[in-house]
Amino acid sequence: MATVLSAIQTTNQLHLGNYLGALKNWIPYQDEHRCFFFLVDLHAITVPQDPQALAENTLISAATYLACGLDPQKSTLFVQSAVPEHAELAWVLTCHSSMGELSRMTQFKDKSSKHGAHIPTGLFLYPVLMAADILLYQAKYVPVGDDQKQHLELARDIAGRMNQQYQKNLFTIPEPMIQKVGARIMSLANPDAKMSKSDPQAGATIFLTDSAKDIEKKFKRAVTDSGSVITDGDVSAGIKNLFSIQAACLGKTPEQVHAGYVGRQYGYLKVETAEIVNQVLEPIRTQTAQILADKGQLLAILDDGATRARETARETLNAVYNSVGFIRKSTL
Ligand code: TRP
Repeated sequence: MATVLSAIQTTNQLHLGNYLGALKNWIPYQDEHRCFFFLVDLHAITVPQDPQALAENTLISAATYLACGLDPQKSTLFVQSAVPEHAELAWVLTCHSSMGELSRMTQFKDKSSKHGAHIPTGLFLYPVLMAADILLYQAKYVPVGDDQKQHLELARDIAGRMNQQYQKNLFTIPEPMIQKVGARIMSLANPDAKMSKSDPQAGATIFLTDSAKDIEKKFKRAVTDSGSVITDGDVSAGIKNLFSIQAACLGKTPEQVHAGYVGRQYGYLKVETAEIVNQVLEPIRTQTAQILADKGQLLAILDDGATRARETARETLNAVYNSVGFIRKSTL
C-alpha cells in the first residue's frame, strides 16, 4: 500500500480553500492507502505567533480534520511537534541542502520580502522541514496546492542526493499530487491572491467555523468587477473564483457552472454561491463544535496518532543516523 501524506499549518483556523483544495480530497485516499495527515505547528512558528492563539488554532484545526471525515481508525492523525523526529531529520537534511537552492524558493522570496532586514531563519529553512515531514514516512504521494510544487521538488532533490550518497533506498522519492478543480480558491477581497488564513483584509477568507450569516455577508461583498451581468465570454477573476467554488462544492466543472449563469446578474451568483457553501459547511461546523466540546478525547486521539507516527518516523530516522555515521547501541 503506497503512502499518502499531507499537512496544513496551524497559523489560523482552516478555511474554504483548505477544505475544497485539500481536506475534501484527502478523504477518499483513506480507504486505499496508508495515510498520514497532520497539523504543522513547527512550520507555524517560522513567523511570530501568539502562543495562546496557536494552541487554540491547533485544537480547532484538529477537530476540523475529524469533522471533515478524516478517520483516526484509517489514517494517522497528529500534530507535528508531538513527533520530535521531524525536527531531528530536518537538521540532517539541512546539512544536505545548499543556501543556493533554498534562496531560489519563491515562497521564501515572497515571505521574506515582508520582513525588512530581519528575516526569520525559520522562513529560510521552512522547505527543509517540509522535506523532513515527507521523507520521514517514505511518502509516495503528496497532495498539495500548486504553490507547494517547488517545495516538493526540493524534497525530491534532497532525497535523491542522499540516496545516492548513502544507500539507494534510504528515502522514497515523493510525487506531488496537484488536483485541478478547487485547487486554487482565491481571496474574496482580492481574487488575484490565493485564499489565505492570514489575509488581513476583511471578508477575504471564509473560515470553516464562520456562521451562515457571516458567509452570506462575505460572498455578497466579494470583489468582482464593474459589470453586472454574466456573459458567455471571458469573465473576471472574481467571477471565475465563484464558479470554481461552486464547481468544487457540487462536483461539476467551472465551465458547467458558468453555462448555468449566462445572462444572469452577479447578485444571484453571489447569493447562490453562499447558499451552496453553507450547505457544505453546515454539518462540518456542527461536528467541529461537538468534537471541541470534549477536548480530552480529542487530545487522546492526537496522542495516539503521534505514538503511531513515531513508530514509522523512528525507523527512517534510525536508518538515516546509521547512514551518516551516528553511533548508538544498535550500531554494535
Ligand atoms: N507548506 C505546506 C503548505 O503551506 C504545509 C506543509 C508542511 C506540508 N509540511 C507538509 C504539505 C508536508 C504537505 C506535506 O501548504
